[in-house]
Amino acid sequence: MDGNGRWASQRGRPRLFGHHAGGKRVREVIEACPDAGVEYLTIFAFSTENWKRTQVEVAGLMSLFRRYILKEAREVHNFGARVRFIGDRVQLDRKLVALMDELETLTENNTRVHLTVALNYGGRDEVARATKRLAEDVAAGKLKPDEVTEETLPNYLDTCVLPDPDLVIRTSGEARISNFLLWQSAYAEYEFIDTLWPDFKRDEFIRLCQSYGNRDRRYGGLK
Ligand code: FPP
Repeated sequence: MDGNGRWASQRGRPRLFGHHAGGKRVREVIEACPDAGVEYLTIFAFSTENWKRTQVEVAGLMSLFRRYILKEAREVHNFGARVRFIGDRVQLDRKLVALMDELETLTENNTRVHLTVALNYGGRDEVARATKRLAEDVAAGKLKPDEVTEETLPNYLDTCVLPDPDLVIRTSGEARISNFLLWQSAYAEYEFIDTLWPDFKRDEFIRLCQSYGNRDRRYGGLK
């Protein structure tokens, strides 16, 4: 969800104003999923690198996440979304983690849309945490070194119950991955669009998903 800061600067407002505006767009995109043919939606809310921002911005974002969950939980649940969080929770504020846990429990039987929020998430950090747990299992004799394969390693990732992404959309004109789902998006299709996240609307999302349908995916093989 990139471009909130620039969206705010263009209006002469503080960066948090942009994050706030970006937050308002999230429900519109969740609710467009059934029409877009999307069963699994993952949004990147805060990266393991975002702690490098000013204390004011980080604290403002954390407070926004708490308020967002409190305000949107009921709506998102009533819509039928199942919410999961990925990322390292250890560094997060206890009150925020409690709200995340509650929202996961509240929505655990929903199936209309599977929403995953990446919060304090980094692809490299995820692979490192997964490798640590995998090594612990090997040391404990629960897994043999020969059993470490492309099929078993993903069981240790935060996304172990989720399918790999088919389409990754990056807003705001930057053409980079920025540590998002590194392992999982090995064969994802990409859309790099100029729209800043607070301007990203239902119609553009649906159009991008429809155009994804015309892509020829070969996964390194032949048609
Ligand atoms: C990146 O834009 C955006 C973020 C770091 C925060 C995203 C958070 C929200 C949209 C709030 C909603 C949250 C949830 C959990 C639904 P940027 O600050 O990098 O923008 P810039 O590149 O223009 O500076």
